[in-house]
Amino acid sequence: MQHSPFVIIIFGGTGDLAQNKLFPALFSLYRQKQLGDSFYIVGFARRPFTDEEYRDLIKRQLKAGGKWEAFAKHLYYEQGVFDEEAGYNSLITRLNGFDSEVGACITRLFYLATPPDHYETILGFLKSTTLSEGCGQGSGKWTRMAIEKPFGKNLETAKSLDRTLTDLFDEKQIYRVDHYLAKETVQNMLAFRFANGIFEPVWNSEYIDHVQVTFAEKEGVRTRGKFFDGVGILRDVAQNHLLQLVATVAMEQPMSFTKEEVRNARAKAIQSIRCIEPEEVYKSVVHGQYLGYTKENQVADDSQTETFVAMKFFVETPRFSEVPFYVRAGKKMPKDEVVIHVVFKQTCHILFKEFGCPEIGNVLTIRIQPNEGIGLRVIAKRPFGMAQDLQPGSKLALGTVDMHFTYQDEFGGRGADAYERLLLDILSGDQMLFNRSDELESSWEFVTKILLGFDLDPKEITKYEQGSWGPADAAKLIEQDGRRWL
Ligand code: BG6
Repeated sequence: MQHSPFVIIIFGGTGDLAQNKLFPALFSLYRQKQLGDSFYIVGFARRPFTDEEYRDLIKRQLKAGGKWEAFAKHLYYEQGVFDEEAGYNSLITRLNGFDSEVGACITRLFYLATPPDHYETILGFLKSTTLSEGCGQGSGKWTRMAIEKPFGKNLETAKSLDRTLTDLFDEKQIYRVDHYLAKETVQNMLAFRFANGIFEPVWNSEYIDHVQVTFAEKEGVRTRGKFFDGVGILRDVAQNHLLQLVATVAMEQPMSFTKEEVRNARAKAIQSIRCIEPEEVYKSVVHGQYLGYTKENQVADDSQTETFVAMKFFVETPRFSEVPFYVRAGKKMPKDEVVIHVVFKQTCHILFKEFGCPEIGNVLTIRIQPNEGIGLRVIAKRPFGMAQDLQPGSKLALGTVDMHFTYQDEFGGRGADAYERLLLDILSGDQMLFNRSDELESSWEFVTKILLGFDLDPKEITKYEQGSWGPADAAKLIEQDGRRWL
Protein backbone atom coordinates (compact mmCIF):
# COMPACT_ATOMS: atom_id res chain seq x y z
CA MET A 1 0.00 0.00 0.00
CA GLN A 2 1.36 3.45 -0.83
CA HIS A 3 0.62 6.34 1.50
CA SER A 4 0.85 9.99 0.89
CA PRO A 5 4.07 11.38 2.33
CA PHE A 6 3.97 11.59 6.12
CA VAL A 7 6.01 12.33 9.19
CA ILE A 8 5.61 10.58 12.54
CA ILE A 9 6.78 12.55 15.53
CA ILE A 10 7.31 10.20 18.45
CA PHE A 11 7.23 12.02 21.78
CA GLY A 12 9.22 9.73 24.05
CA GLY A 13 11.39 8.70 21.12
CA THR A 14 13.98 6.99 23.33
CA GLY A 15 11.47 5.31 25.64
CA ASP A 16 10.44 1.73 26.13
CA LEU A 17 7.41 1.88 23.86
CA ALA A 18 9.25 3.54 21.00
CA GLN A 19 12.14 1.13 21.17
CA ASN A 20 10.26 -2.09 21.82
CA LYS A 21 7.07 -1.63 19.85
CA LEU A 22 6.99 1.35 17.49
CA PHE A 23 10.39 1.05 15.84
CA PRO A 24 10.25 -2.72 15.34
CA ALA A 25 6.81 -2.24 13.74
CA LEU A 26 7.94 0.66 11.55
CA PHE A 27 11.07 -1.15 10.41
CA SER A 28 9.11 -4.28 9.62
CA LEU A 29 6.54 -2.26 7.64
CA TYR A 30 9.37 -0.62 5.77
CA ARG A 31 10.84 -4.00 4.87
CA GLN A 32 7.43 -5.08 3.62
CA LYS A 33 7.34 -1.91 1.46
CA GLN A 34 4.28 -0.67 3.31
CA LEU A 35 5.56 2.81 4.11
CA GLY A 36 6.40 4.08 0.67
CA ASP A 37 9.53 6.16 0.09
CA SER A 38 8.48 9.57 1.20
CA PHE A 39 8.29 9.47 4.97
CA TYR A 40 10.11 10.83 8.00
CA ILE A 41 10.28 9.61 11.60
CA VAL A 42 11.33 12.06 14.27
CA GLY A 43 12.14 10.94 17.79
CA PHE A 44 11.53 13.73 20.29
CA ALA A 45 13.05 13.31 23.75
CA ARG A 46 15.14 14.93 26.42
CA ARG A 47 18.61 13.46 25.97
CA PRO A 48 21.03 15.15 23.56
CA PHE A 49 21.59 13.06 20.43
CA THR A 50 22.48 13.92 16.88
CA ASP A 51 20.44 12.25 14.14
CA GLU A 52 23.34 9.82 13.63
CA GLU A 53 23.58 8.91 17.32
CA TYR A 54 19.86 8.37 17.46
CA ARG A 55 19.97 6.06 14.44
CA ASP A 56 22.72 4.04 16.15
CA LEU A 57 20.71 3.81 19.34
CA ILE A 58 17.67 2.46 17.51
CA LYS A 59 19.80 0.15 15.40
CA ARG A 60 21.36 -1.44 18.50
CA GLN A 61 17.94 -1.90 20.03
CA LEU A 62 16.44 -3.46 16.90
CA LYS A 63 19.47 -5.62 16.19
CA ALA A 64 18.55 -4.48 12.72
CA GLY A 65 19.81 -6.29 9.68
CA GLY A 66 18.87 -5.99 6.00
CA LYS A 67 17.59 -2.66 4.71
CA TRP A 68 18.57 -0.87 7.90
CA GLU A 69 20.78 1.67 6.15
CA ALA A 70 17.98 2.65 3.78
CA PHE A 71 15.46 2.85 6.62
CA ALA A 72 17.81 4.83 8.87
CA LYS A 73 17.89 7.69 6.35
CA HIS A 74 14.27 8.41 7.28
CA LEU A 75 15.09 8.79 11.00
CA TYR A 76 15.71 12.10 12.77
CA TYR A 77 16.05 13.28 16.31
CA GLU A 78 14.83 16.43 17.98
CA GLN A 79 16.00 17.19 21.46
CA GLY A 80 13.43 18.81 23.65
CA VAL A 81 12.19 19.05 27.19
CA PHE A 82 8.45 18.40 27.24
CA ASP A 83 7.66 21.45 29.34
CA GLU A 84 9.84 23.96 27.49
CA GLU A 85 8.82 25.65 24.28
CA ALA A 86 12.26 25.64 22.65
CA GLY A 87 12.12 22.00 21.51
CA TYR A 88 8.71 22.50 19.92
CA ASN A 89 9.98 25.51 18.02
CA SER A 90 12.90 23.56 16.56
CA LEU A 91 10.44 20.84 15.69
CA ILE A 92 8.40 23.35 13.70
CA THR A 93 11.48 24.32 11.70
CA ARG A 94 12.31 20.68 11.10
CA LEU A 95 8.76 19.80 9.98
CA ASN A 96 8.58 22.80 7.69
CA GLY A 97 11.83 21.58 6.16
CA PHE A 98 10.24 18.23 5.35
CA ASP A 99 7.28 19.97 3.73
CA SER A 100 9.61 22.01 1.53
CA GLU A 101 11.60 18.91 0.63
CA VAL A 102 8.45 17.14 -0.54
CA GLY A 103 6.98 20.31 -1.97
CA ALA A 104 3.66 19.88 -0.19
CA CYS A 105 2.07 19.85 3.24
CA ILE A 106 2.61 16.28 4.40
CA THR A 107 0.52 14.43 6.97
CA ARG A 108 1.84 14.92 10.50
CA LEU A 109 1.21 12.18 13.00
CA PHE A 110 2.02 13.12 16.58
CA TYR A 111 2.48 9.96 18.64
CA LEU A 112 2.40 10.33 22.42
CA ALA A 113 4.58 7.49 23.68
CA THR A 114 5.69 9.16 26.91
CA PRO A 115 4.65 8.41 30.47
CA PRO A 116 1.07 9.67 30.76
CA ASP A 117 1.89 12.54 33.17
CA HIS A 118 3.38 14.41 30.21
CA TYR A 119 0.32 14.22 27.96
CA GLU A 120 -1.42 17.42 29.05
CA THR A 121 1.84 19.38 28.90
CA ILE A 122 2.69 18.20 25.40
CA LEU A 123 -0.83 18.81 24.16
CA GLY A 124 -0.66 22.30 25.66
CA PHE A 125 2.49 23.08 23.69
CA LEU A 126 1.12 21.58 20.50
CA LYS A 127 -1.67 24.09 20.86
CA SER A 128 0.30 27.17 21.94
CA THR A 129 2.94 26.69 19.24
CA THR A 130 0.17 25.93 16.68
CA LEU A 131 1.98 22.71 15.82
CA SER A 132 -1.38 20.96 16.12
CA GLU A 133 -2.64 22.88 13.14
CA GLY A 134 -0.36 21.29 10.62
CA CYS A 135 1.28 22.95 7.67
CA GLY A 136 -0.09 26.45 7.98
CA GLN A 137 -3.57 25.32 6.99
CA GLY A 138 -5.20 26.41 10.22
CA SER A 139 -7.69 23.60 9.69
CA GLY A 140 -5.85 20.76 11.38
CA LYS A 141 -6.60 18.80 8.27
CA TRP A 142 -3.19 17.28 7.92
CA THR A 143 -2.48 16.30 11.50
CA ARG A 144 -3.31 13.14 13.40
CA MET A 145 -2.83 12.43 17.06
CA ALA A 146 -2.10 8.99 18.50
CA ILE A 147 -2.20 8.65 22.25
CA GLU A 148 -1.16 5.60 24.23
CA LYS A 149 -2.78 4.10 27.26
CA PRO A 150 -3.10 4.56 30.18
CA PHE A 151 -5.36 7.37 29.15
CA GLY A 152 -5.65 9.23 32.47
CA LYS A 153 -5.33 7.88 36.00
CA ASN A 154 -8.99 7.68 36.89
CA LEU A 155 -12.36 8.69 35.51
CA GLU A 156 -11.91 12.38 36.26
CA THR A 157 -8.42 12.73 34.73
CA ALA A 158 -9.42 10.62 31.73
CA LYS A 159 -12.34 12.98 31.07
CA SER A 160 -10.17 16.03 31.48
CA LEU A 161 -7.51 14.63 29.13
CA ASP A 162 -10.20 13.87 26.60
CA ARG A 163 -11.50 17.43 26.82
CA THR A 164 -8.00 18.77 26.14
CA LEU A 165 -7.64 16.42 23.23
CA THR A 166 -11.01 17.11 21.66
CA ASP A 167 -10.50 20.86 22.10
CA LEU A 168 -7.43 20.60 19.93
CA PHE A 169 -8.44 18.01 17.39
CA ASP A 170 -11.53 16.74 15.63
CA GLU A 171 -12.59 13.25 16.60
CA LYS A 172 -11.50 11.93 13.22
CA GLN A 173 -7.93 13.05 13.91
CA ILE A 174 -7.68 11.22 17.25
CA TYR A 175 -6.38 7.67 17.67
CA ARG A 176 -6.64 6.40 21.26
CA VAL A 177 -4.44 3.34 21.18
CA ASP A 178 -5.11 -0.01 22.88
CA HIS A 179 -2.91 -2.40 20.94
CA TYR A 180 -4.89 -5.43 22.09
CA LEU A 181 -7.69 -4.37 19.78
CA ALA A 182 -5.33 -4.96 16.87
CA LYS A 183 -4.25 -8.45 17.87
CA GLU A 184 -5.28 -11.01 15.28
CA THR A 185 -7.09 -13.31 17.68
CA VAL A 186 -9.01 -10.50 19.27
CA GLN A 187 -10.31 -9.50 15.87
CA ASN A 188 -10.91 -13.09 14.96
CA MET A 189 -13.37 -13.30 17.84
CA LEU A 190 -15.76 -11.18 15.81
CA ALA A 191 -15.49 -13.45 12.79
CA PHE A 192 -15.69 -16.50 14.96
CA ARG A 193 -18.78 -15.41 16.86
CA PHE A 194 -20.72 -13.72 14.11
CA ALA A 195 -19.73 -15.55 10.94
CA ASN A 196 -20.39 -19.02 12.37
CA GLY A 197 -24.07 -19.59 12.95
CA ILE A 198 -23.49 -22.42 15.42
CA PHE A 199 -22.14 -20.33 18.30
CA GLU A 200 -24.63 -17.51 18.54
CA PRO A 201 -27.55 -19.66 19.79
CA VAL A 202 -25.50 -20.95 22.74
CA TRP A 203 -23.73 -17.68 23.49
CA ASN A 204 -25.83 -16.79 26.51
CA SER A 205 -26.55 -17.52 30.13
CA GLU A 206 -28.65 -20.55 29.31
CA TYR A 207 -25.58 -22.40 28.04
CA ILE A 208 -22.57 -20.54 29.38
CA ASP A 209 -21.59 -21.25 32.96
CA HIS A 210 -18.87 -18.64 33.27
CA VAL A 211 -16.08 -16.86 31.43
CA GLN A 212 -12.41 -16.66 32.45
CA VAL A 213 -9.80 -14.29 31.15
CA THR A 214 -6.14 -14.67 32.10
CA PHE A 215 -3.50 -12.08 31.22
CA ALA A 216 -0.27 -13.53 32.57
CA GLU A 217 3.27 -12.32 32.01
CA LYS A 218 6.45 -14.04 33.18
CA GLU A 219 8.39 -10.80 33.22
CA GLY A 220 8.29 -8.32 36.07
CA VAL A 221 8.39 -4.58 35.48
CA ARG A 222 11.81 -4.76 33.78
CA THR A 223 13.11 -1.24 33.15
CA ARG A 224 9.70 0.34 33.63
CA GLY A 225 9.70 0.48 37.44
CA LYS A 226 9.13 4.22 37.65
CA PHE A 227 6.19 4.21 35.27
CA PHE A 228 4.61 1.04 36.63
CA ASP A 229 4.92 2.02 40.28
CA GLY A 230 2.80 5.07 39.65
CA VAL A 231 0.21 3.08 37.80
CA GLY A 232 -0.22 -0.55 38.92
CA ILE A 233 -1.67 -3.40 36.95
CA LEU A 234 -5.27 -2.24 37.23
CA ARG A 235 -4.51 0.87 35.24
CA ASP A 236 -1.75 -0.64 33.12
CA VAL A 237 -3.62 -3.59 31.65
CA ALA A 238 -6.98 -4.20 33.36
CA GLN A 239 -8.67 -0.89 32.47
CA ASN A 240 -7.78 -1.36 28.84
CA HIS A 241 -6.56 -4.71 27.45
CA LEU A 242 -8.44 -6.90 29.90
CA LEU A 243 -11.77 -5.10 29.60
CA GLN A 244 -11.46 -5.03 25.82
CA LEU A 245 -11.06 -8.81 25.86
CA VAL A 246 -14.19 -9.04 27.99
CA ALA A 247 -15.97 -6.81 25.49
CA THR A 248 -15.20 -9.14 22.59
CA VAL A 249 -16.95 -11.95 24.45
CA ALA A 250 -19.82 -9.88 25.76
CA MET A 251 -20.68 -7.58 22.85
CA GLU A 252 -23.78 -7.93 20.73
CA GLN A 253 -23.50 -8.30 16.99
CA PRO A 254 -22.68 -4.89 15.45
CA MET A 255 -25.34 -3.62 13.03
CA SER A 256 -22.69 -3.61 10.31
CA PHE A 257 -18.96 -4.06 10.03
CA THR A 258 -18.21 -0.37 10.06
CA LYS A 259 -16.15 1.78 12.35
CA GLU A 260 -19.10 3.36 14.14
CA GLU A 261 -21.13 0.18 14.58
CA VAL A 262 -18.24 -1.94 15.83
CA ARG A 263 -17.29 0.81 18.26
CA ASN A 264 -20.93 1.15 19.33
CA ALA A 265 -21.14 -2.55 20.12
CA ARG A 266 -17.86 -2.51 22.05
CA ALA A 267 -18.82 0.60 23.98
CA LYS A 268 -22.20 -0.88 24.91
CA ALA A 269 -20.55 -4.06 26.21
CA ILE A 270 -18.11 -2.16 28.43
CA GLN A 271 -20.86 0.12 29.64
CA SER A 272 -22.84 -2.96 30.68
CA ILE A 273 -20.18 -4.25 33.06
CA ARG A 274 -21.72 -3.93 36.50
CA CYS A 275 -19.47 -1.78 38.68
CA ILE A 276 -18.07 -3.23 41.88
CA GLU A 277 -19.03 -0.73 44.56
CA PRO A 278 -16.12 0.64 46.64
CA GLU A 279 -17.59 -0.72 49.90
CA GLU A 280 -17.73 -4.23 48.42
CA VAL A 281 -14.36 -4.22 46.74
CA TYR A 282 -12.67 -6.97 48.74
CA LYS A 283 -15.54 -9.39 48.06
CA SER A 284 -14.84 -9.37 44.34
CA VAL A 285 -11.29 -8.12 43.88
CA VAL A 286 -7.98 -9.61 45.02
CA HIS A 287 -4.75 -7.75 44.54
CA GLY A 288 -1.16 -8.67 45.24
CA GLN A 289 2.46 -7.77 44.66
CA TYR A 290 5.26 -10.13 43.70
CA LEU A 291 8.02 -10.69 46.22
CA GLY A 292 11.03 -8.58 45.36
CA TYR A 293 9.00 -5.93 43.53
CA THR A 294 10.09 -3.18 45.92
CA LYS A 295 13.72 -3.96 45.08
CA GLU A 296 13.13 -3.27 41.39
CA ASN A 297 14.85 -0.23 39.91
CA GLN A 298 12.95 3.03 40.60
CA VAL A 299 10.25 1.36 42.69
CA ALA A 300 9.51 2.83 46.13
CA ASP A 301 10.76 0.72 49.07
CA ASP A 302 7.37 0.80 50.71
CA SER A 303 5.35 0.57 47.49
CA GLN A 304 1.82 -0.80 47.80
CA THR A 305 1.33 -0.89 44.02
CA GLU A 306 -0.41 -4.03 42.77
CA THR A 307 1.33 -6.24 40.22
CA PHE A 308 -1.54 -8.73 40.22
CA VAL A 309 -5.27 -8.39 40.26
CA ALA A 310 -8.13 -10.90 40.04
CA MET A 311 -11.76 -9.84 39.81
CA LYS A 312 -15.19 -11.32 39.55
CA PHE A 313 -17.94 -9.29 37.92
CA PHE A 314 -21.06 -9.47 35.79
CA VAL A 315 -22.10 -8.00 32.49
CA GLU A 316 -25.64 -6.75 32.74
CA THR A 317 -27.13 -7.63 29.39
CA PRO A 318 -30.02 -10.03 28.80
CA ARG A 319 -27.51 -12.35 27.13
CA PHE A 320 -25.12 -12.57 30.06
CA SER A 321 -27.16 -11.84 33.15
CA GLU A 322 -25.87 -13.96 36.04
CA VAL A 323 -22.87 -15.33 34.10
CA PRO A 324 -19.81 -14.54 36.20
CA PHE A 325 -16.66 -13.24 34.52
CA TYR A 326 -13.47 -14.11 36.38
CA VAL A 327 -10.51 -12.14 35.12
CA ARG A 328 -6.92 -11.91 36.32
CA ALA A 329 -3.77 -10.16 35.25
CA GLY A 330 -0.32 -10.41 36.74
CA LYS A 331 3.40 -9.91 36.37
CA LYS A 332 5.89 -12.63 37.37
CA MET A 333 3.41 -15.38 36.65
CA PRO A 334 4.46 -18.96 35.80
CA LYS A 335 4.16 -18.32 32.07
CA ASP A 336 3.29 -15.86 29.34
CA GLU A 337 -0.30 -16.49 28.46
CA VAL A 338 -3.26 -14.39 27.41
CA VAL A 339 -6.30 -16.55 27.05
CA ILE A 340 -10.09 -16.49 27.25
CA HIS A 341 -12.04 -19.57 28.33
CA VAL A 342 -15.78 -19.71 27.78
CA VAL A 343 -16.91 -22.54 30.02
CA PHE A 344 -20.24 -24.10 29.11
CA LYS A 345 -22.72 -25.66 31.51
CA GLN A 346 -22.33 -29.37 32.13
CA THR A 347 -25.00 -31.59 30.65
CA CYS A 348 -23.07 -34.86 30.89
CA HIS A 349 -24.60 -35.83 34.23
CA ILE A 350 -28.14 -35.98 32.80
CA LEU A 351 -27.43 -39.30 31.12
CA PHE A 352 -23.99 -40.39 32.18
CA LYS A 353 -23.63 -39.46 35.83
CA GLU A 354 -22.75 -42.95 37.02
CA PHE A 355 -20.03 -43.32 34.37
CA GLY A 356 -18.00 -40.51 35.80
CA CYS A 357 -18.44 -37.18 34.06
CA PRO A 358 -15.37 -34.96 33.74
CA GLU A 359 -15.40 -32.10 36.21
CA ILE A 360 -15.58 -29.55 33.37
CA GLY A 361 -17.17 -30.30 30.01
CA ASN A 362 -17.22 -28.01 27.01
CA VAL A 363 -14.76 -25.15 27.01
CA LEU A 364 -14.11 -22.81 24.15
CA THR A 365 -10.61 -21.41 24.42
CA ILE A 366 -9.46 -18.35 22.55
CA ARG A 367 -5.72 -18.12 22.82
CA ILE A 368 -4.57 -14.56 22.23
CA GLN A 369 -0.91 -15.41 22.73
CA PRO A 370 1.34 -17.33 22.45
CA ASN A 371 0.28 -19.98 19.90
CA GLU A 372 -2.61 -17.83 18.71
CA GLY A 373 -5.58 -20.02 17.99
CA ILE A 374 -8.92 -21.38 19.08
CA GLY A 375 -9.76 -24.65 20.78
CA LEU A 376 -12.88 -26.50 21.80
CA ARG A 377 -12.98 -29.15 24.49
CA VAL A 378 -15.63 -31.80 24.05
CA ILE A 379 -16.56 -34.86 26.03
CA ALA A 380 -16.04 -38.14 24.22
CA LYS A 381 -16.45 -41.79 24.95
CA ARG A 382 -13.15 -43.52 25.42
CA PRO A 383 -12.63 -46.53 23.15
CA PHE A 384 -14.02 -49.71 24.70
CA GLY A 385 -11.33 -51.96 26.09
CA MET A 386 -8.76 -49.15 26.08
CA ALA A 387 -10.05 -47.02 28.87
CA GLN A 388 -7.75 -47.42 31.82
CA ASP A 389 -10.36 -46.15 34.20
CA LEU A 390 -13.18 -48.44 33.08
CA GLN A 391 -14.76 -49.92 36.22
CA PRO A 392 -15.33 -53.67 36.20
CA GLY A 393 -18.81 -54.25 34.84
CA SER A 394 -19.33 -50.74 33.46
CA LYS A 395 -19.99 -50.20 29.77
CA LEU A 396 -18.70 -46.70 29.26
CA ALA A 397 -15.90 -44.37 30.21
CA LEU A 398 -15.85 -40.70 29.31
CA GLY A 399 -13.00 -38.33 28.79
CA THR A 400 -12.33 -34.93 27.27
CA VAL A 401 -10.76 -34.25 23.90
CA ASP A 402 -9.32 -30.92 22.76
CA MET A 403 -9.83 -29.85 19.17
CA HIS A 404 -7.86 -26.78 18.19
CA PHE A 405 -6.32 -24.80 15.40
CA THR A 406 -3.43 -22.40 15.52
CA TYR A 407 -2.76 -19.56 13.12
CA GLN A 408 0.73 -20.86 12.58
CA ASP A 409 -0.39 -24.33 11.49
CA GLU A 410 -3.37 -23.29 9.41
CA PHE A 411 -2.23 -20.06 7.81
CA GLY A 412 1.54 -20.38 8.13
CA GLY A 413 1.84 -17.28 10.29
CA ARG A 414 0.27 -15.14 12.98
CA GLY A 415 -0.58 -12.18 10.80
CA ALA A 416 0.63 -8.63 11.28
CA ASP A 417 1.98 -7.55 14.62
CA ALA A 418 -0.54 -5.38 16.50
CA TYR A 419 1.57 -2.22 16.21
CA GLU A 420 2.12 -2.73 12.50
CA ARG A 421 -1.61 -2.98 12.06
CA LEU A 422 -2.29 0.08 14.19
CA LEU A 423 0.24 2.24 12.42
CA LEU A 424 -1.11 1.30 9.02
CA ASP A 425 -4.65 1.99 10.19
CA ILE A 426 -3.68 5.43 11.46
CA LEU A 427 -1.93 6.26 8.22
CA SER A 428 -4.93 5.19 6.21
CA GLY A 429 -7.38 6.92 8.55
CA ASP A 430 -9.23 3.83 9.83
CA GLN A 431 -10.36 4.25 13.45
CA MET A 432 -12.21 0.97 14.01
CA LEU A 433 -9.51 -0.53 16.23
CA PHE A 434 -9.13 2.58 18.38
CA ASN A 435 -10.99 3.57 21.52
CA ARG A 436 -13.75 6.10 21.54
CA SER A 437 -14.26 8.37 24.55
CA ASP A 438 -17.37 6.56 25.76
CA GLU A 439 -15.58 3.19 25.91
CA LEU A 440 -12.82 4.79 27.92
CA GLU A 441 -15.20 6.51 30.28
CA SER A 442 -17.07 3.31 31.09
CA SER A 443 -13.89 1.33 31.68
CA TRP A 444 -12.50 4.10 33.87
CA GLU A 445 -15.72 4.28 35.84
CA PHE A 446 -15.38 0.58 36.61
CA VAL A 447 -11.70 0.78 37.57
CA THR A 448 -12.02 4.04 39.49
CA LYS A 449 -14.61 2.52 41.83
CA ILE A 450 -12.22 -0.32 42.59
CA LEU A 451 -9.38 2.09 43.26
CA LEU A 452 -11.70 4.09 45.48
CA GLY A 453 -12.53 0.90 47.39
CA PHE A 454 -8.82 0.29 48.06
CA ASP A 455 -8.46 3.89 49.26
CA LEU A 456 -11.49 3.67 51.53
CA ASP A 457 -10.16 0.63 53.32
CA PRO A 458 -6.43 0.35 52.64
CA LYS A 459 -5.05 -3.08 53.45
CA GLU A 460 -1.41 -4.14 53.38
CA ILE A 461 -0.91 -5.62 49.92
CA THR A 462 -0.52 -9.42 49.85
CA LYS A 463 2.82 -10.64 48.53
CA TYR A 464 3.06 -13.62 46.24
CA GLU A 465 5.95 -15.80 45.14
CA GLN A 466 7.45 -14.99 41.75
CA GLY A 467 6.38 -17.69 39.31
CA SER A 468 3.13 -18.40 41.16
CA TRP A 469 -0.43 -17.58 40.13
CA GLY A 470 -0.75 -14.72 42.61
CA PRO A 471 -2.09 -14.64 46.17
CA ALA A 472 -4.04 -17.65 47.48
CA ASP A 473 -7.15 -15.48 47.69
CA ALA A 474 -7.23 -15.32 43.88
CA ALA A 475 -7.90 -19.05 43.80
CA LYS A 476 -10.48 -18.68 46.57
CA LEU A 477 -12.31 -15.99 44.60
CA ILE A 478 -13.36 -18.56 42.03
CA GLU A 479 -13.26 -21.71 44.16
CA GLN A 480 -15.83 -20.34 46.60
CA ASP A 481 -18.26 -20.52 43.67
CA GLY A 482 -17.40 -24.20 43.03
CA ARG A 483 -15.21 -23.40 40.01
CA ARG A 484 -11.49 -23.18 39.40
CA TRP A 485 -9.03 -21.31 37.20
CA LEU A 486 -8.26 -23.35 34.12
C1 BG6 B 1 1.29 -2.89 27.71
C2 BG6 B 1 1.52 -2.81 29.20
O1 BG6 B 1 0.21 -2.07 27.34
O2 BG6 B 1 1.04 -4.22 27.34
C3 BG6 B 1 2.65 -3.75 29.62
O3 BG6 B 1 1.86 -1.49 29.55
C4 BG6 B 1 2.40 -5.14 29.09
O4 BG6 B 1 2.81 -3.77 31.02
C5 BG6 B 1 2.10 -5.10 27.60
O5 BG6 B 1 3.56 -5.91 29.34
C6 BG6 B 1 1.72 -6.45 27.05
O6 BG6 B 1 1.60 -6.35 25.66
P1 BG6 B 1 2.00 -7.56 24.72
O7 BG6 B 1 1.57 -7.15 23.37
O8 BG6 B 1 3.47 -7.72 24.86
O9 BG6 B 1 1.23 -8.72 25.25
